[in-house]
Amino acid sequence: MKFFIDSANLDAIKKAYKIGVLSGVTTNPSLVAKEGVKFEDRIAEILQTVPEVESVSAEVTPDALTAADMMAQADELIKINGGDKNITIKLPMTLEGLEACRYLTKKGVKTNVTLIFTVNQALLAARAGATYVSPFLGRLDDISEDGVQLVAKVAELFRIHGLESQIIAASVRHPDHVTRVAMAGAHIATVPFAVIEQISKHPLTDQGMDKFAADWQNATK
Ligand code: E4P
Repeated sequence: MKFFIDSANLDAIKKAYKIGVLSGVTTNPSLVAKEGVKFEDRIAEILQTVPEVESVSAEVTPDALTAADMMAQADELIKINGGDKNITIKLPMTLEGLEACRYLTKKGVKTNVTLIFTVNQALLAARAGATYVSPFLGRLDDISEDGVQLVAKVAELFRIHGLESQIIAASVRHPDHVTRVAMAGAHIATVPFAVIEQISKHPLTDQGMDKFAADWQNATK
C-alpha cells in the first residue's frame, strides 16, 4: 500500500515528502479553505513541491454541480504548472461527476472519484474510468458503519472483475485504520501528517534509543 498525504498545508506536505514515503497528495475544498489561500495557486505550489509523486488531487469546487461545469473547471486545472501530468481531477460521486470522469479519462487525465460510501458507488466510478476511487472510512465509522469493511469489499470486487481503478482509503483518522486498510487491500491510504507521524512511533523505539544513548555515554566517558 502506498501513502498519499491528505492536506493542503505546504509545511505538512514538505515534511512528508522529505521522509521519502509519499506517492501523492489529496486535497479537498475544506482543506484548501482552511489554508486561506487561492485554490489554483495552492495546487500549483503543491505540484512544484512534490515533483516525484504520481498524483496531486485537485477537487472541482462545490459550486460546480453539472458535468459541464466540472469539465470546464477541469480543463483549466489541467493547465496549472504548465500542464503538469501529476494533476488528478477529483470529482464528486454523482451522476454528473461520473460524466465528467468519463470525459477526462478519454482525454487521458487522471481522476479521483471522491465521497464513496458503498461498493456500488465504487463500481460505477471504476466503470466510468476513474484512476482512483476514494471510499471514506472515517465518516462511515462516524455513523456506526464499518469503513474498513467497505474498503475490503471494494478491493475484492475489483479483484474479481479485474477493475484497474486504484482504491484510495480516505478519511483515515488513526494508525489502526492504516494497518487495517493495508490488510484489506487498499492500494493507497491518504492520511493527515499527524497520522504519518503517529505510525512512525513506538514507545519501545524511544526507550531503546534512550538506552543506547545511556550505554554509549557510559562506555565512552
Ligand atoms: C480524501 O480525499 C478526503 O480529502 C479526506 O480523506 C476526508 O477526510 P475527513 O473525513 O477526515 O474530512
